[in-house]
Amino acid sequence: MSLPPNFLDELRLRTPLPALIGRSTKLTRAGRQWKGCCPFHGEKSPSFYVYDDHYHCFGCGAHGDAIAFVMQSQGATFPEAVERLAAEAGMEVPKATPQHARREAKRRDLNAVLDAAAEAFQRRLRLPEGRAGLDYLLRRGLSESTIRKFGLGWSGGGRGALAADLKPAGIDAGQLAEAGLMRAAENGQPAVDLFFNRVMFPIRDRRGRIVSFGGRILGDGQPKYVNGPETELFSKRRNLYGIDLARDAAFKGAPVVVVEGYMDVIALHQAGLEGAVAPLGTALTEEQLAELWRLTPQPILCFDGDAAGARAAARAAELALPLISTERSLGFVTLPAGEDPDTLIGKSGPQAFRSLLDAARPLSGVLYDMVAAHHPGGAPEARAALRHALEEAAGKIPDKFLAGEYRRALLDRFFASGRRSALAPRGVDRGGRSRPGPPALALPRPGIDPTQVRLEQARCLLAITAAHPWLLNEIEEVLGQIDLPDGMPHRLRTALIAWHAAGMALEAAPLADHLLSVEPEAFAWLRRTPRMLPAAAGPEALPKLVAEQWWYFFGRFRGEAALLAERQAAERDFAATGDAAAQTRLIRLNELIAAQRRGEMEDESTGGEVI
Ligand code: UTP
Ligand code: MN
Repeated sequence: MSLPPNFLDELRLRTPLPALIGRSTKLTRAGRQWKGCCPFHGEKSPSFYVYDDHYHCFGCGAHGDAIAFVMQSQGATFPEAVERLAAEAGMEVPKATPQHARREAKRRDLNAVLDAAAEAFQRRLRLPEGRAGLDYLLRRGLSESTIRKFGLGWSGGGRGALAADLKPAGIDAGQLAEAGLMRAAENGQPAVDLFFNRVMFPIRDRRGRIVSFGGRILGDGQPKYVNGPETELFSKRRNLYGIDLARDAAFKGAPVVVVEGYMDVIALHQAGLEGAVAPLGTALTEEQLAELWRLTPQPILCFDGDAAGARAAARAAELALPLISTERSLGFVTLPAGEDPDTLIGKSGPQAFRSLLDAARPLSGVLYDMVAAHHPGGAPEARAALRHALEEAAGKIPDKFLAGEYRRALLDRFFASGRRSALAPRGVDRGGRSRPGPPALALPRPGIDPTQVRLEQARCLLAITAAHPWLLNEIEEVLGQIDLPDGMPHRLRTALIAWHAAGMALEAAPLADHLLSVEPEAFAWLRRTPRMLPAAAGPEALPKLVAEQWWYFFGRFRGEAALLAERQAAERDFAATGDAAAQTRLIRLNELIAAQRRGEMEDESTGGEVI
């Protein structure tokens, strides 16, 4: 969308930012500006500042103007945000060119045709001829209200039925062809219906406007589903079934889940999982991934438990690698063999599906298995090839810090698998029969001293804080409460909190000078073996990674019991206040607990020596 720049300036001028943001976030005056708790990350003490023309969060780095705020907080695209703000400011968004205006008008006409068709299909479902279709949907477990919510209908028997229905509304066969509902007349042949004797599923775009239809045959015929062709309005690459509803759900905190079929989306929805979407009969595309990442940093992809499902998962991982960042990744769920989400919920209930979601695997884990599957065996040549392939996979990630973390995680598993396979032959003879091997406890393991582990975790937390003192705004309260080991960690914490309380600049360099002069011994301890510190303790780490890793180490330090208690408190807080910051905190804690559970499982499988 190209808009005259003075239009955008005028729009910003007419949209007072504190009023706009103040509707969803409580702001209080702080001198000439306003401040409050950041709506984009969980925090208890305010580090989110609103100025006349922009906002900035010193906690997470969120930053922008009124248009960016609407985009970030409502998941709107740029044109949508402009449209919404302009409507509120009583301004008309200028139409760029006459061509543009003509195209818009045509799209509006096509929308009207598709709306009218959807109404006709829904009407037919309630007529005697649609009875078999309605019964079919009810037999598949859909409720009346679900059928209405998704606008499901019955196509009619073809032979021009739809055209006849829509004629009184002034819609002709040519328009139906443009809308993807009929095949156009050619060579003297009349136009024919594309859908007949099918249950109809309207496909909506992200704004909820119908852009096409899918149709399912009753019972077992072929093809089972027919989808509308590409049109001016409909692109299979760009759309996702259910995206309009998932968008609302995602903003209320629902997980965004990608499944294979229309019926899966509908069944999940009916079971209360409203963040479900499906591609339109093709493999997931880059455009669809981009759309998903606008809703959530970590959409979860579900795949069948068979070989085709594994191939599809591998394709998705490969597609995603060059696109991921610290705030865009994927989770993977593998369904039990022979089930899809619809049948699973039917047999075992929604909780069974939710448990799968809770156990979703991170991209890094899936990636390892995928690459390792291509290089089986423990021979040196195969091991070297695997190591090469792992390095290469990590190298596809554009963010260099993230690529570094992936490389480390993948190689950690690589070396752990080497230790395991080196030991394996002892227990198994050539015929594959098991011989009694040495008991697992006899495996050589470096000793773990729990006091040492805690001390190292505390060092990580404090090192990240000292390198990125802006964190103090967000974490001061919890840092003050945790039970740090005596001695150096205690002394450093006291110095950090005093620095913050004195209102000193939250910058790394002056803070380092200060720590060096007041706590030289503790500061040297903090700086020792920097290679052992997490990436977030580096000076160039991005704010998002810094916050994530801080909370991660915080979680490990506190242990699961304390985190669960904290989650309970956050739940109560959210139930009582219903505010966005409380919700974000709850989500953060849930993620933390889930991440730790996964992490702990991985630790066990690699022998438990990871700190
Ligand atoms: P499935 O065959 O897995 O269907 O196709 P499903 O969703 O489980 O369907 P039900 O439960 O038998 O009704 C998954 C998706 O692949 C596309 C459709 O989008 C379908 O939802 N598909 C499938 C087609 O486009 N054409 C076909 O012939 C089959
Ligand atoms: Mn199915």
